[in-house]
Amino acid sequence: MTDEPATTTDVTGTERAATGATPEDGDVTGAQVAGTAGPDDGTSRSGDGAAGGDDVLVTVEGLEVHFPIKRGIVLERTVGYVYAVDGVDLTIRRGETYGLVGESGCGKTTLGRGLLRLVEPTGGRVVFDDIDVSTLKGERLRKSRRRMQMIFQDPLSSLDPRQSVESILIEGMRAHGLDSGKESTRARLVELLDSVGLPESALHKYPHEFSGGQRQRIGIARALAVEPDLIVADEPVSALDVSVQAQVLNLLEELQQRLGLTYLVIAHDLAVVRHISDRIGVMYLGSLVEEASSDEMYAEPMHPYTKALLSAVPVPDPTVEDEREQILLTGDLPSPANPPTGCRFHTRCPWKQETLCDTDRPQLRDVGGGHRVACHYAEDILAGRITSHEVEPELVHPDS
Ligand SMILES: Nc1ncnc2c1ncn2[C@@H]1O[C@H](COP(=O)(O)OP(=O)(O)O)[C@@H](O)[C@H]1O
Ligand code: SF4
Ligand SMILES: [Mg+2]
Repeated sequence: MTDEPATTTDVTGTERAATGATPEDGDVTGAQVAGTAGPDDGTSRSGDGAAGGDDVLVTVEGLEVHFPIKRGIVLERTVGYVYAVDGVDLTIRRGETYGLVGESGCGKTTLGRGLLRLVEPTGGRVVFDDIDVSTLKGERLRKSRRRMQMIFQDPLSSLDPRQSVESILIEGMRAHGLDSGKESTRARLVELLDSVGLPESALHKYPHEFSGGQRQRIGIARALAVEPDLIVADEPVSALDVSVQAQVLNLLEELQQRLGLTYLVIAHDLAVVRHISDRIGVMYLGSLVEEASSDEMYAEPMHPYTKALLSAVPVPDPTVEDEREQILLTGDLPSPANPPTGCRFHTRCPWKQETLCDTDRPQLRDVGGGHRVACHYAEDILAGRITSHEVEPELVHPDS
């Protein structure tokens, strides 16, 4: 669980434009990155939300990551758990982009890290390309890691400030035996930089010499260097200026189509995932509450939490904006160390009913066409048989 790159606390973060700097735009004209080109298996957003057919690359079953809460100085004892990820089932199809959204603290990053075994899951399993990676150890685990890479939110803290771009890129290649000789490695590095829109001259520069967007391009090149199949991008654009965000997202899309990559894109911003996702999963307090194709999720959200999240996203059309229903969530996100009983959303749900909601935890169930919802009353809410009401803010108990 320690594959995470060194952090850069000793860097001031002053942004200097690289001399001869590349434009921040997404006009990437680079040559194809060798070795990883996949077939054009439906990686473009087709509108129906399904990409790559049903060819599943990743299956997550009942995944749990519970962090122990320790107390005591001499005799440390576990006094409870943070249920960061608490029973997640999902599949990611080959060539698709699966967007994962939810409020900060709901477990998105931990799910991404658990999937790659950068943090050890405490339950469930992850099957990657028919291999159960939950049980892999040593060399086989290391090999499987090459095929699954992560892009981090803050490129400045995920790139070692003491390493040049060249050594950042070579590090991973070397670890996986992909630096085949001086000449060909050099050509490969240039090709990698080109594919993310950076010039050869970037090789001998250091992370602080680049702008935020350029640094994220380096982070992407580092991930691509080991020729992965799956990229988990954890809030890949949230640290970037709005003007640069679209360029980096366009680059990710273009690389996906060119290389046949599969993405899990994590974001708290629904606008980001909508643009690039085929399917979207909404997370609340450690588990998925809804999953649907991107179009369907936006056209007909069924879970009250998704409805509330979407109602907070501004709509460009002023008439629609004025008329649409706004759902304000009252009450704080409860602590994942002490999640509410029954439906975890019941303390904030404007549709909460007298029965089931605070006693029975709803399962994520298919309500038709692969649209999955974890709400006892999803159909009744959709049909208007039950309506929303005021929510009395409930006292959320402290952690322990
Ligand atoms: N290493 C850890 N030890 C203890 N708790 C953790 C650890 N990492 C994350 N958490 C907790 O798990 C919960 C989910 O965190 P995280 O996965 O980072 O959420 P998100 O990415 O959705 O913001 C949070 O309450 C967070 O404080
Ligand atoms: S199960 Fe009940 S509390 Fe949970 S989302 Fe549905 S209506 Fe709301
Ligand atoms: Mg996170």
